Amino acid sequence: MLTLTEIAEDPLVLTRRLRLRDGSEVLFRPLAHADAAHLARFLEALSPESRRLSTFDGYDFAAARELCAAIARYDKLRLVLEEVRSGRIVGLLEFSLDLTSADIARYREAGVRLAETTDCRFGPTLADDYQDRGVGTLIFPLVTEVARRLGRTRIILWGGVLGDNPRAIRYYEKNGFQPVGSFIGEDGLRSLDMILDLHVVPDQASPLPRRSSS
Ligand SMILES: CC(C)(COP(=O)(O)OP(=O)(O)OC[C@H]1O[C@@H](n2cnc3c(N)ncnc32)[C@H](O)[C@@H]1OP(=O)(O)O)[C@@H](O)C(=O)NCCC(=O)NCCS
Repeated sequence: MLTLTEIAEDPLVLTRRLRLRDGSEVLFRPLAHADAAHLARFLEALSPESRRLSTFDGYDFAAARELCAAIARYDKLRLVLEEVRSGRIVGLLEFSLDLTSADIARYREAGVRLAETTDCRFGPTLADDYQDRGVGTLIFPLVTEVARRLGRTRIILWGGVLGDNPRAIRYYEKNGFQPVGSFIGEDGLRSLDMILDLHVVPDQASPLPRRSSS
């Protein structure tokens, strides 16, 4: 089982190169300390609607630097999608290996017992011009592979998904997530909890490299 420290020391263990439908290539890889400027550009470019659907603490260089500074320091693993030709970051995929007491309570009420050691939280955000092109689905086998390599057997949505985000709901459903229940968030809006059991999702990803090549 991989640890966050091992991933930070050798990001190639989770790095993959993918070809999109239009023939262009992207790298799927862990966020690195050197990414702050590119990550800031990604956050700054997110539209108001994307920021509403996927919330970050900030959308500027300071926020990007914070995310980079958090690498291997807490319970979070962040991966990015990077255009090979330009180096532009076009997606941020976040895992948390920690569950909140609110998550645990909500799921328990819905009859699901979450387990700190085998469940994780996941939240994806693609650049506006990368949304709705099948990219999220293309990378999903890599997402499940990362969760498995972290020793996780289920994935829940980080903060749920807003009830008025039908594209994301469809995205999660088509990739195997099951609805668990709904709740009213701090913003007063209805969100849905969804869970994916990795036992029932085929392992479609060709294996990520076990270790970096020298
Ligand atoms: C959510 C997100 C990661 C999904 O990735 P994606 O690459 O856009 O998703 P895909 O293109 O693989 O799949 C989207 C699906 O939703 C469908 N869809 C798009 N708009 C829709 C709508 N308004 N209503 C219902 N379905 C919709 C698409 O047709 C597709 O389903 P299909 O393949 O059955 O036709 C991405 O759109 C994103 O980053 N959105 C902004 C941030 C966000 O919402 N993050 C999630 C927070 S919980």
